[in-house]
Amino acid sequence: MRTQVAIIGAGPAGLLLGQLLFKAGIDAVIIERHSAEYVLGRVRAGVLEQVCVDLLDEAGVGARMHKDGLVHGGFEMLFKGQRHRIDMRQLTGGKTVMVYGQTEVTHDLMDARTAQGLSTIYSASNVSVHDFDGHKPFVRYETDGPNGKQQHELQCDFIAGCDGFHGVCRASVPPGAIAHYDKVYPFGWLGILADVPPVSHELIYANTERGFALCSMRSTTRSRYYVQCDLSDKPEQWTDEAFWQELRLRLDPAARERLVTGPSIEKSIAPLRSFVAEPMRFGCLFLAGDAAHIVPPTGAKGLNLAASDVKYLSSALIEHYRDHSQAGIDSYSDRCLRRVWKAERFSWWFTSLMHRFPDTAGFGQKVQEAELDYLIHSHAASTSLAENYVGLPLDFAEP
Ligand code: PHB
Repeated sequence: MRTQVAIIGAGPAGLLLGQLLFKAGIDAVIIERHSAEYVLGRVRAGVLEQVCVDLLDEAGVGARMHKDGLVHGGFEMLFKGQRHRIDMRQLTGGKTVMVYGQTEVTHDLMDARTAQGLSTIYSASNVSVHDFDGHKPFVRYETDGPNGKQQHELQCDFIAGCDGFHGVCRASVPPGAIAHYDKVYPFGWLGILADVPPVSHELIYANTERGFALCSMRSTTRSRYYVQCDLSDKPEQWTDEAFWQELRLRLDPAARERLVTGPSIEKSIAPLRSFVAEPMRFGCLFLAGDAAHIVPPTGAKGLNLAASDVKYLSSALIEHYRDHSQAGIDSYSDRCLRRVWKAERFSWWFTSLMHRFPDTAGFGQKVQEAELDYLIHSHAASTSLAENYVGLPLDFAEP
């Protein structure tokens, strides 16, 4: 078997890349180790930057997002019992974000593939990538056949590693060729999804004595809420009632009054981590999205960064095939990383600002309080928060 681009991973990054390449007439095969149901079952963040919205439109998969997604022009910050609105639209000269779940984005991309008659290889096992430092890379994988496991070999020009943090692509790079930058945080997020109307029409980020809380949503009838929890907590220990009680205690009186509770549809705990692998290209192998970097969820940059990697990668590959130019391929890693590190910085900063840290001296806590006060009262500081929250432009400060 032969293709131009072998894409490893059928999450939003792999599917979006496949879609942009298909539109440009470039042949790609997508190989995923999980089932389609598993991929769709993962609940992830739900805030899309304008850059990401534009890219989904360019890929021709934006219709349902524009119909069902919620355009948000601001969000609220709650601390010391008071809510303060960050008017993103006004502070950024009209920019907004789209609240639309990653699961829905994945769904739309899957539907587009089916409608175009393209298939995806799901439930592939023992996926391995080979010879990507030469000119004849290939991928090996197995599928379940009628007589047991069937072995496959896929020859290609390029391999796109869109296979997430635990994927095989980054793990296949020789250790001496890659640098890792890693930071873990001393807490997790306990999240629940419930079919109840959101407590407010905009997101609320809360910094309270009991820890961080976030009120988010998927629609006007489905809410997504989070509370900062201990890393040792297990979701089974948290009954729905205990969750709602804890959330209530972290809200201001007006929000507490308005909060509608109900049975959870999903409940999970996510650890928080910052991680970057450099570079993001090794010969014919490109890493994109979580395969190359992880951000803590505060600020919802994960999917947006994956989308911008994919934009740079698809442009590079299109330039290669159409214009026989190597320029985009050679600059891929640097372009991505400049944007990645700015989002890493922002996500780390927003996480540091909003959570309770073990801090026996109390100095960190006092500085955090001063920073929140400054943020709300300084136009410059609020503008910086809003500018980063809506997302920096794709060509931000490009040489
Ligand atoms: C979410 O809706 O899951 C969400 C929203 C905003 C964040 C993180 C997660 O900053």
